[in-house]
Amino acid sequence: MDALVLSHLRRIAHKLIPLLAAAGVAYSYEAAARDPDPMLGLPASVTRIQGAPPATAALGKRLFFDTRFSADAKVSCATCHQPDRAFSDGKPVATGTEGRAGTRNAPSLINAAFLTTLFWDGRRRTLEEQARDPFVNPNEHGLADEAQLLDVIARDPAYRQQFADAFAADDAVVDIDHVTRAIAAFVRTLVAGNSPFDRYYFGGDASALSASAINGLAIFRERGQCANCHRMEKDHALFTDHDFHTLAVGLDRISGRLAQIVKRAPVPGDGLDRAVLADVEVAELGRFLVTGKPSDIGKFRTPSLRNVALTAPYMHDGSIATLEQAVEREIYYRGLEANRPLVLTTQQKRDLVEFLRSLTSDALPN
Ligand code: HEC
Ligand code: HEC
Repeated sequence: MDALVLSHLRRIAHKLIPLLAAAGVAYSYEAAARDPDPMLGLPASVTRIQGAPPATAALGKRLFFDTRFSADAKVSCATCHQPDRAFSDGKPVATGTEGRAGTRNAPSLINAAFLTTLFWDGRRRTLEEQARDPFVNPNEHGLADEAQLLDVIARDPAYRQQFADAFAADDAVVDIDHVTRAIAAFVRTLVAGNSPFDRYYFGGDASALSASAINGLAIFRERGQCANCHRMEKDHALFTDHDFHTLAVGLDRISGRLAQIVKRAPVPGDGLDRAVLADVEVAELGRFLVTGKPSDIGKFRTPSLRNVALTAPYMHDGSIATLEQAVEREIYYRGLEANRPLVLTTQQKRDLVEFLRSLTSDALPN
């Protein structure tokens, strides 16, 4: 059965069981325990978030993987968001059309559906708005304009049919809003819970985590105070507070010349996406680019840690190669901020890493 349908059924199982029984369908909690909810640990809003018709998401998927929407006909969204890397790309910074390097690490798109702002600096609010940016960014798909993209669609009868099916109520002309709505619908299907951590913490399966990971979880929540930002709620955990903080990663790239670099920052608005991915120094300004507040210089959105073991290298600039080093960096910087070093033994650090590795979902969408 479709994973989403199944998940929804489980959420309302107590109401459904008598109905199913009446219809002669057996459903048992024991079977559910053996084959747990793929959405375990995600916010309950998951079923609402995924409301788009399957035809729309299927169209979005085709658009996502189509390399014709790029200057060299080689780049698609999936170039930088690869299904087998939890929709990240394994590189420090992403490279787009004609091998042009950007300035930022490509984040995983798994569970991006739950984010309240998008990009490391939060410069976009919805997946629809976000999906417009890469096509015309010279360091990504590199199209001259959106007309080029719409032209490919207009000349492809299969696309025309798919758009007609997905947006039945609209008129026959495909516009950029249809394109971004379809892509956003696809991205919203890229959700996954049910990691060993979820089965331990939300599913009550004491055997789902190793002793080391259980110890790591305690350090994460208590000594390390990691969950202050990488948040865990009572009934779900996204491991982000949707807010912006600094770890001073990459700050040495701009310190000393801040005044000049700030002058190069575009006024918030249309030029921002290009400037950020073209100018590595401007990119380091982080959240400041959106708010204009000096206190936001060098701040980046707290990344979710779900599936983090699959998405090396780390941080907004991809400058940290391994999970062990990322944890070291956090321990060091948290100590600096608290004015009191956070001292952990080698084993405790291993436990933290072991815990982070337990956040990998058993089954990832692709
Ligand atoms: C050349 C590589 C590249 C291509 C192509 C690309 N992306 Fe990205 N994507 C990135 C990078 C790098 C970021 C982070 C940029 C930033 O934060 O400034 C990103 C961020 C995102 C985010 C925000 C995720 C988050 O956690 O905030 C979404 C959603 C996304 N991309 C979807 C897409 C879609 C849809 C397409 C195709 C239309 C696409 N990307 C094409 C590299 C790429
Ligand atoms: C004050 C908020 C805050 C606290 C506390 C915090 N983090 Fe983070 N964490 C962040 C932010 C922000 C980033 C991204 C920084 C950047 O890219 O420059 C990050 C990045 C990470 C990354 C890299 C993830 C990726 O996808 O690149 C890991 C791993 C991580 N933190 C683990 C931890 C651990 C373990 C602790 C506790 C010892 C912790 N964090 C405490 C805010 C926080």
